[in-house]
Amino acid sequence: MLRIEGVSKRFGGVPALSDVSFSCREGMTTALIGPNGAGKSTLINCIAGALTPDAGTIHCGERRIDGLPPHLRPSLGISRTFQNLALFPRLTVLENVLAGLTPEGEPSLVKSLLRLPATRHRER
Ligand SMILES: Nc1ncnc2c1ncn2[C@@H]1O[C@H](COP(=O)(O)OP(=O)(O)O)[C@@H](O)[C@H]1O
Ligand SMILES: [Mg+2]
Repeated sequence: MLRIEGVSKRFGGVPALSDVSFSCREGMTTALIGPNGAGKSTLINCIAGALTPDAGTIHCGERRIDGLPPHLRPSLGISRTFQNLALFPRLTVLENVLAGLTPEGEPSLVKSLLRLPATRHRER
């Protein structure tokens, strides 16, 4: 389901990831463990798209996703949470959950504002 091959990432002179490879099988829960500074967050950021690897490839199923803009990754089933939650204090619990709803295909402000039947159906 997720295949990481030879991924490397440097910050200036600091190598955060050096030739990382592993894969996750569908239906299994996979944990990534390591001490502080091991590169876990950097790898998660490469998978979610906040960072682009310097080398290597990331596949989601058959699709190569390194280089794909982050906002197009949720429709492939990729989403992430953060150690520090960022909630919208003025929204209700339900509205906060809806704000994180995975968009299907390219998200569109116009479609959301028009509240087309497909959008209403998804929210329901
Ligand atoms: N934005 C950044 N700029 C510079 N160095 C970074 C940045 N992000 C992470 N690093 C460095 O990369 C290494 C891996 O960090 P990180 O991925 O946060 O590790 P972990 O999440 O496993 O604690 C560390 O040496 C860290 O200092
Ligand atoms: Mg971390």
